[in-house]
Amino acid sequence: YVARKDSPMVLGLGEGENFIASDIPAVLPYTRKVFILEDGDVGILTTEGITITSLDGKTIDHKVFEVTGDAEAAEKGGYEHFMSKEIHEQPKALRDTLQPMLEQKDGLWSMRDDILQMDPGQVKAFDRVAIVACGTAYHAGVVGKYVFERVLRVPVEVDIASEYRYRDPVTPPGTLFIIISQSGETADTLAAMREAKKRGGKVLAITNVVGSSVAREADYLIYTWAGLEIAVASTKAYTSQLMVLYALCTEFARQRGVMSPQEASGMFEKLLGLSEQAQEAITNVDEIQRFASEHFDRHSVFFLGRGLDYALAMEASLKLKEISYIHSEAYAAGELKHGTIALIEEGTLVVAMATQQALVEKTISNVKEVKVRGAYVLAIAMEGDERVAQEADEVWYIPKTDDFIAPVLAVLPMQLFAYYMALMRGCDIDKPRNLAKSVTVE
Ligand code: AGP
Repeated sequence: YVARKDSPMVLGLGEGENFIASDIPAVLPYTRKVFILEDGDVGILTTEGITITSLDGKTIDHKVFEVTGDAEAAEKGGYEHFMSKEIHEQPKALRDTLQPMLEQKDGLWSMRDDILQMDPGQVKAFDRVAIVACGTAYHAGVVGKYVFERVLRVPVEVDIASEYRYRDPVTPPGTLFIIISQSGETADTLAAMREAKKRGGKVLAITNVVGSSVAREADYLIYTWAGLEIAVASTKAYTSQLMVLYALCTEFARQRGVMSPQEASGMFEKLLGLSEQAQEAITNVDEIQRFASEHFDRHSVFFLGRGLDYALAMEASLKLKEISYIHSEAYAAGELKHGTIALIEEGTLVVAMATQQALVEKTISNVKEVKVRGAYVLAIAMEGDERVAQEADEVWYIPKTDDFIAPVLAVLPMQLFAYYMALMRGCDIDKPRNLAKSVTVE
């Protein structure tokens, strides 16, 4: 007997066996037929069948939800870990997420109306954006903040869902809420979404799991088509979330007249090219493997960056700590001298993200500050930009692109770095200690 109250619950319909789980991906290795319970539903499972009733015992005729999609997603397909497989699936995930969103009219790219769902009046009406999410999805939201503010010139707040739900936020009319969640079942994110709706806000959700709670409760919904993500550490979901945010921002800019149709189309073209560049960025991993074999016994790593590089540093740091158990911190590079620099000593490993062209010189000055205190510095820079190479001990280059979309490419070596560090340390990469894939409790 099972019942649903607030936290998600799905029932998987098998043959001679049935399943209970807190989200759809958990049952996919066994069955693609699921019942999604609503609050107050009671399920009675035997090996032969499933009956669903209301709390007072009345039978409810629930529809079976058939999950479609790639059956191979639940297999490692020759990779040692799901995380490594999912890192390498990113070129496809980026393409699969973006292509169905777009259409070409008179030679110009724009977003399809049925994908955006918002009518032109609604697109022009919002004058504030509030992004709410947890963990890696929150980090995608931080990128979204920089990008939306820079392009649309509207104020954007980005909140951790567990903070948002209790901080009694000010939500003026005209706020567009964007909720980001890979699983669509994260308890804090769902609660924040319900809070936003209670306050009269319209919620646009970005999620990866079809039929998830977030998908069902949102006013507007855009799926990331990253495919099933099994490793606890999120990789392809993150870059796909970034892709949706970039595409949304570009379409908003087009419809609000901030970008001309030609400029917006040009930006969509660049986004369409990202898949190929992502492939380039993950093809040669030898350098990353070698670096990990030399540095895997570190106790602490600091990630620095400014602007979008800071947003990226946050995600790079989370990735490393969650799977390798190495303590790491992300710092806005300019904030270093307000305290954290006290921790830099002979041999401390510092990763300086330096992809943002207008900020590279500033980041280099921070690299110098940590170098004179004995740090070993690895920098991430854009191909063709040799400036940081003069100061850092090592530089990894990402394919040349706009500053604006660089995070999609720059996170790839960071995911691989975390992966190989964890591999060298013998960690349980796909199921790191103390963590769950969907955090369905508070
Ligand atoms: C990512 O690597 C983490 N495991 C975690 O931070 C995750 O992003 C967070 O729990 C949010 O999950 P969601 O996207 O499914 O809501």
